Amino acid sequence: MGGLARLEYRGYDSAGIALVTDDRSRVATAKKAGKLARLAEALEETPLPAGTAAIGHTRWATHGPPTDANAHPHLAAGGRIAVIHNGIIENHGPLRDELAAQGIDFLSDTDTEVAGHLLGSLVESGLSLADAMRSAARRLEGAFTLLAVDASDPHTVVGARRNSPLVVGLGEGENFLGSDVVAFIEHTRSALELGQDEVVEITPDSVTVTDTHGNPVSREPYHVDWDAAAAEKGGFATFMDKEIHDQPAAVADTLRGRVDDQGRLKLDEGIVDEYVLKSIDKIIVIACGTAAYAGQVARYAIEHWTRVPVEVELAHEFRYRDPIVSVKTLVVAVSQSGETMDTIMAVRHAQQQGATVIGIVNAQGSTIAREADAVLYTRAGPEIAVASTKAFLAQITAGYLLGIYLADLRGNKFPDEIDALLRELDEIPAKIQRVLDTAAPIREVARSMADERTVLFLGRHVGFPVAMEGALKLKELAYIHAEGFAAGELKHGPIALVEQDQPVFVVVPSPRGRESLHSKVLSNVQEVRARGARTLVIAEEGDTVAADHAAHVFYVPSAPVLMTPLLSVIPLQIFALELASAKGYDVDQPRNLAKSVTVE
Ligand code: M6R
Repeated sequence: MGGLARLEYRGYDSAGIALVTDDRSRVATAKKAGKLARLAEALEETPLPAGTAAIGHTRWATHGPPTDANAHPHLAAGGRIAVIHNGIIENHGPLRDELAAQGIDFLSDTDTEVAGHLLGSLVESGLSLADAMRSAARRLEGAFTLLAVDASDPHTVVGARRNSPLVVGLGEGENFLGSDVVAFIEHTRSALELGQDEVVEITPDSVTVTDTHGNPVSREPYHVDWDAAAAEKGGFATFMDKEIHDQPAAVADTLRGRVDDQGRLKLDEGIVDEYVLKSIDKIIVIACGTAAYAGQVARYAIEHWTRVPVEVELAHEFRYRDPIVSVKTLVVAVSQSGETMDTIMAVRHAQQQGATVIGIVNAQGSTIAREADAVLYTRAGPEIAVASTKAFLAQITAGYLLGIYLADLRGNKFPDEIDALLRELDEIPAKIQRVLDTAAPIREVARSMADERTVLFLGRHVGFPVAMEGALKLKELAYIHAEGFAAGELKHGPIALVEQDQPVFVVVPSPRGRESLHSKVLSNVQEVRARGARTLVIAEEGDTVAADHAAHVFYVPSAPVLMTPLLSVIPLQIFALELASAKGYDVDQPRNLAKSVTVE
């Protein structure tokens, strides 16, 4: 159950387990709609027998609502086989028809049950579980990590993967399979990554990997270098609050040790020819959600420092618009999990078009980290809360490092300018700490606003993606309608939304930056105030002019304009956390969401 709890970030709308017993009598299962705690309660009431091999699953519904019947595992071959699955079986329709024609009854709406019955019918035809899995994998289309146990083989678990991840944990007299190393990190730190279209059979003493035709595959184990304690709450009531407080360390760790002996910035893994990076004429950042907002922030800096045009594209839109990509395009894939299927598919599309791909990824050894040509790891540590916070700051930091690296390599900046930028970044973690230490007023205001129905967020320049990120946090945690706008866009339509007492957050740029930007945003503040808005202003310490325009002002330390998002977003994260908590919501696992969206 500990392993399943750690995997709940992948989905938490139902959970289940299946186990086989030494007497080869049956597969015992338990499954429940709802969070893992409901399954734990059910197991306390009706415990399962001691098993010799087991599989377990936490679900994020794709086919069929989250009900007990649709929860995994699903049984097949008269109850002899149990399967669990992540991903989407795209040809489940014709397979279901084919199996139904053979007289098979389906008990759920899921594509998983179809895969289970396909496997079951192959086992019943006389194949071993591993051979049946290889045969089934050849027939299945789409994305799957599929695991199965067979009552007549009580010491074996078989798994297969295509497009979804599967990792083997190598123990002593015990072996494990998981979608992520966190599933077994409390038992072993020795792991082995399964490749595309591979099938694995584990027993307590052996691990056998083949391709889907049965040809042996040799894979090298690696050591999992993760601090398990970092995944615990560390005294905070929620993972999200802890992760917000991890942010000084997340940024500092992402910056640490990036300069090589020659004083050059370095990537973590993989090699991109410097000649290629010198010749790129366009950068496309692909990402989803918060990671895409991090990309939008980084765009301002990368363009400014390198003079290379930067586009930021939602990964799920990228490949469907026939993007103009060439060998001179650098694609930067930003992802906390490295497992977001939309982003993975966009990476593959970009590589097929000849682009070089650099991943900005948090999870070591994840699919994007492995498939990108090079990786710049964000060292935020495990992010468990569904709402991304510390990964966002680390992604911006890594984006800035990449921009500085390119500006250095391409000769856009002199070495002393590069040093100055790195020094400015080095000062950010202490400033983040100050924002955290002075957050009591934003918490208090948030608690007083639990009954609001809609909140608007405005920003300009780098403050624009910060405004959108603030709105996303509020939507996903507090289920309140929230929208982020470019402040200048307001008078082109959205200002019609403003009525008496409408709360409007405004991210005000530094008065020491471009003077016009500061005064333009303050004009926007006046425009909404004139129409009755209640303005909540994020401003730089000492900006007394901004305070004059605010019902509430929240100060952040002063920083160079391009670095201010690393500070100004924090009050917005805390606002959403506190308001959602005041409403009694589960901020770590908001409704309808999954931490990692592993389906397209
Ligand atoms: O793991 P990724 O960074 O690729 O995830 C991308 C988005 O799904 C993620 O940022 C999502 O928007 C978060 N729930 C936002 O808090």
